[in-house]
Amino acid sequence: MQKKINIAIDGYSSCGKGTLAKALAKSLGYVFIDSGAMYRAVTLFMLREGVDVNDEDAVSLAMERVVVGFEKNAEQQSEVTLNGVSVESEIRNIEVASKVSEVAKIAVVRTKMVALQQAIGLNKGVVMDGRDIGTVVFPDAELKIFMTASQDVRAQRRFAELLAKGDDVTLEDIAKNLEHRDTIDANRENSPLTMTSDYRVLDNSHLDRDAQFALAMDWVETAIQGV
Ligand code: DC
Repeated sequence: MQKKINIAIDGYSSCGKGTLAKALAKSLGYVFIDSGAMYRAVTLFMLREGVDVNDEDAVSLAMERVVVGFEKNAEQQSEVTLNGVSVESEIRNIEVASKVSEVAKIAVVRTKMVALQQAIGLNKGVVMDGRDIGTVVFPDAELKIFMTASQDVRAQRRFAELLAKGDDVTLEDIAKNLEHRDTIDANRENSPLTMTSDYRVLDNSHLDRDAQFALAMDWVETAIQGV
């Protein structure tokens, strides 16, 4: 049987990390984990409970009441759960998006989520996307991909996604939110988004899904051969 590896996919918001990660996991029979969804679920909890997300002590205390997990839906796709209930759709709204970077920079939140992510990856065969997967969560991942795309392309993609869901948003709001999150994600003290020399860089501004998938699959095959 072919050896299993862990695949870390990091990069800025709305670069299509999830799309690629899902496609790779499906084709390889691996588990796909959207680590951003976990930070979004925590953020949703804070918003619902009225916790001030800028108050680190209040967030830390509230974390004692948060359990994040995953379950399969009827289509066998993994959905993030908050205290046992799927919140897959609620975590994608603009309120959560506008607060999640604040929550994700808090140490106690990260420690709890990283421990969970590492436990999921223990047996290999995981494709996880996020910001610190190849640097902090799985520093020994056999394949690390850093995804990037131009800000315009990313804003357009997220806009189309939210419009399709029926959200009342403007392209300008989306672009501002992306810029805000990029700045916080890359400059925060705890596990900032950074790229080390062991990453493969995938700029998909001008690549379609099939081309990006083919490129990544080549890298996967090389990585598996190296195990
Ligand atoms: O990938 P996303 O846009 O759903 O991520 C939501 C937020 O969570 C993003 O602003 C950064 C944060 N995040 C993080 O800090 N670490 C991760 N591993 C994944 C996401």
